Amino acid sequence: MKHKIIFTSLFSTAILMASTWATANDNPGGIGGVHSLRGDAELEQTRPADPLKKVSRQVSKLDNNFVGQPPMIPHHIRNYEISMNANKCLSCHSWKQAKESGAVKISVTHYQNRSDQILSDVSPRRYFCVQCHVPQVDAKPLIKNDFKEVESLRPNSND
Ligand code: HEC
Ligand code: HEC
Repeated sequence: MKHKIIFTSLFSTAILMASTWATANDNPGGIGGVHSLRGDAELEQTRPADPLKKVSRQVSKLDNNFVGQPPMIPHHIRNYEISMNANKCLSCHSWKQAKESGAVKISVTHYQNRSDQILSDVSPRRYFCVQCHVPQVDAKPLIKNDFKEVESLRPNSND
């Protein structure tokens, strides 16, 4: 009799655990997924990358939208290496090279560390340019945006 009670309670605990597990993992069709504006992706599948956007050869720079925005890149950057050994961007945009290359030189903020000290070379936190700057392309915005800059702080008012 005693054995029977123990067995029954163990059995019901097991059923309870199994059903809790089933509820927690109730996800028909997959072990989990990510829902994003670029489309849904299942964790166990690698979603094919979106096709690369075409960077036009003849583009003028798009206006910045807000103060402090990293300006967009108005030229292609295909095969521009940014690694431990080389930084192609700096071969045109560093203060040394900018005059010769005709590129805009990186602003002094790119030499500041996080304590606002000015370093003698590009700050490590600004070394990987494409972390902040991306080439401009003719792409459809993912969501509608009604953002309007304050008139007095329009980044391009002095352009
Ligand atoms: C061969 C020289 C060259 C290289 C390499 C180069 N750029 Fe440029 N970049 C330019 C020139 C020249 C301009 C000025 C606009 C133009 O004529 O396209 C420019 C413009 C820009 C601008 C716009 C600046 C502004 O406010 O007007 C950004 C941002 C930029 N480049 C970032 C980059 C990044 C990031 C890389 C590396 C991935 C890079 N560039 C590599 C020559 C270069
Ligand atoms: C952490 C983000 C970040 C990284 C990394 C970064 N930048 Fe910038 N960049 C900015 C921001 C923000 C601005 C605009 C405000 C400013 O000048 O700080 C800017 C401005 C610029 C400008 C325009 C300067 C001007 O006077 O108008 C150029 C050119 C540029 N960056 C090139 C580069 C290059 C080349 C690299 C890589 C060596 C780089 N940036 C790395 C954030 C970044």
